[in-house]
Amino acid sequence: MTDIVTIKDLRKAYKGGFEALKGVNLGIRSGEILALLGPNGAGKTTLISTICGITTATSGTVSVGGHDIVRDFRAARKMIGLVPQEINLEPFERVINTVRFSRGLFGKSSDDAAIEKVLRQLSLWDKKDAQIRELSGGMKRRVLIAKALAHDPRVLFLDEPTAGVDVELRKDMWKVVAGLKAEGVTIILTTHYIEEAEAIADRVGIIAGGELLLVEDKDKLMQRMGQKELEVQLTAKIDTVPDSLQSDALRLSDDGMALIYTYDTRAERTGITKLLSEVAAAGLTLRDVVTRQSSLEDIFVNFVKEDAA
Ligand SMILES: Nc1ncnc2c1ncn2[C@@H]1O[C@H](COP(=O)(O)OP(=O)(O)O)[C@@H](O)[C@H]1O
Ligand SMILES: [Mg+2]
Repeated sequence: MTDIVTIKDLRKAYKGGFEALKGVNLGIRSGEILALLGPNGAGKTTLISTICGITTATSGTVSVGGHDIVRDFRAARKMIGLVPQEINLEPFERVINTVRFSRGLFGKSSDDAAIEKVLRQLSLWDKKDAQIRELSGGMKRRVLIAKALAHDPRVLFLDEPTAGVDVELRKDMWKVVAGLKAEGVTIILTTHYIEEAEAIADRVGIIAGGELLLVEDKDKLMQRMGQKELEVQLTAKIDTVPDSLQSDALRLSDDGMALIYTYDTRAERTGITKLLSEVAAAGLTLRDVVTRQSSLEDIFVNFVKEDAA
């Protein structure tokens, strides 16, 4: 798959010197749903705003569809739709007019068929003449997406589309996103909900403190998150794992004082009982047993803590 957005060593320091992005490198694949997962203040909005040309980078480059966002701003921006974090709609405006207006902003000729298509896509066609103030919260969010799609962008950025939204509305939003992907739109969404990334993303990027810590296929990431390590500490040092215990899941610690067993917390059988009896049968004596989450899980646990704070 080719990259539709290429971000190279992107840095952003706000006035006063605060570094909100510390050298981000990322390729966004054409047609994928990428979730950028990170706690409040991680730099998600700054990253999106920079790609969309709302804030200027301190250094580094971004290209969209091969167009540099600084040198070739208009061409790059035309390919992008942005749904901002805050709902900012005129309460007395009618749905269809606000969407038409957005299309015009990008120099696209008015096209009733295109507007109808977008409104139908978002199940807003029967609300086209309603005033914004008459709509429910979920409908308003759909209008924001319709506005972002009005000029037929290839890449859609959704900044926290479901923050503070109830479960039903969230699932509704996921369906909308899946429908857009089916139409070939590349989608980047930011979120601080792990479940959201798990539900809809093809790939997940984890961002914290202005750094992109990792980007990985969702399935692989979820697998790793479910893994835990069991450290079986021994009373005496050993040089190798005894033959009777050889397994891909088991390795010797660097100091030879412990066996480290990796297992899946979601598996029906973890294999721990069997392991411990085999350790005893091999004539090894246990000093202690400790379990650890994978480091990735630690990152997520920290997210949750910050969320609760
Ligand atoms: N205009 C600004 N001026 C100074 N600092 C800012 C500005 N906007 C954001 N920041 C800071 O940059 C960091 C990242 O913010 P933001 O990109 O909004 O994070 P997120 O969207 O992940 O919550 C935060 O520490 C925030 O306080
Ligand atoms: Mg934000």
